[in-house]
Amino acid sequence: MTQERRQQRLRRYWDKHADSYDRQMGFFDRHLFAGSRDWVCSLAAGQVLEVAVGTGLNLAHYPAGVRLTGIDHSPEMLRIASDRAGQLGLAADLRQGDAQALEFGDASFDTVVCTFSLCAIPDDRAAVAEMARVLRPGGLLLLADHVEAVPWPARAAQALIELISVPVQGEYLRRRPARHAQALGFTIEAHDRLKLGIVERLAARKPQPARARDDRRGPALACQPAPAGVPHRATIAAIMSAASTSPAAIMDARRPREVLRGSSR
Ligand SMILES: C[S@@+](CC[C@H](N)C(=O)[O-])C[C@H]1O[C@@H](n2cnc3c(N)ncnc32)[C@H](O)[C@@H]1O
Repeated sequence: MTQERRQQRLRRYWDKHADSYDRQMGFFDRHLFAGSRDWVCSLAAGQVLEVAVGTGLNLAHYPAGVRLTGIDHSPEMLRIASDRAGQLGLAADLRQGDAQALEFGDASFDTVVCTFSLCAIPDDRAAVAEMARVLRPGGLLLLADHVEAVPWPARAAQALIELISVPVQGEYLRRRPARHAQALGFTIEAHDRLKLGIVERLAARKPQPARARDDRRGPALACQPAPAGVPHRATIAAIMSAASTSPAAIMDARRPREVLRGSSR
């Protein structure tokens, strides 16, 4: 099957299931995803792009003041999202689009959000690369998804389920989108794995170009010795990056290291 035909088939799948989506997702939101929508959306600020916005289940969770654009490839999912935005009195710009080839220019958004969709987008690596492209340097990437479990019996069960879920609905259970963000040089500011590691949430900051970073720090800070007792390179990078924002952000930057130590990979 060509890529275009596969894409059309998946779009039809989501169109067909749009009306029952909220009910089905409600079950997983209550029992598996454990407040992930609040976790992700509460960190969004400024000009926000939500990729694969679906029926707009996140809309009610955004803080006041964000300017939201949402894309999805399913017109039926978008129709429900538009109704929801209307009911909530939100002026969101919701439009059809492909997560793997976003129509927006480079560095257009302060925050990019994607929840429970990188499991369903055929090329998750291309989608994360597109999110990175449209995010401004220093902008925040916020992801939540179900991913490969930590214990091997759970991973084995996921592999079995994928034998059906991938051909039938294009649903992958063992992806790790956080790794794509890390490979693109993002600084991990917060990271959680819950429920046997099946649920992963990530806040990652897009790196500033080297010159802008040096200008911002200035010579005094650039000459400081590394803080004693903080040997972890990623943590130092996170603290240096957060130093341009706020003391609270510095605390957030230190926290993920503890969480990451607890997670298997
Ligand atoms: C499981 S739903 C998640 C919806 C929403 N993000 C949420 O958290 O409830 C997956 C969504 O991804 C969308 N999707 C899948 N592939 C896509 C693509 N290539 N481009 C844009 N949207 C896509 C589907 O139409 C569907 O709305």
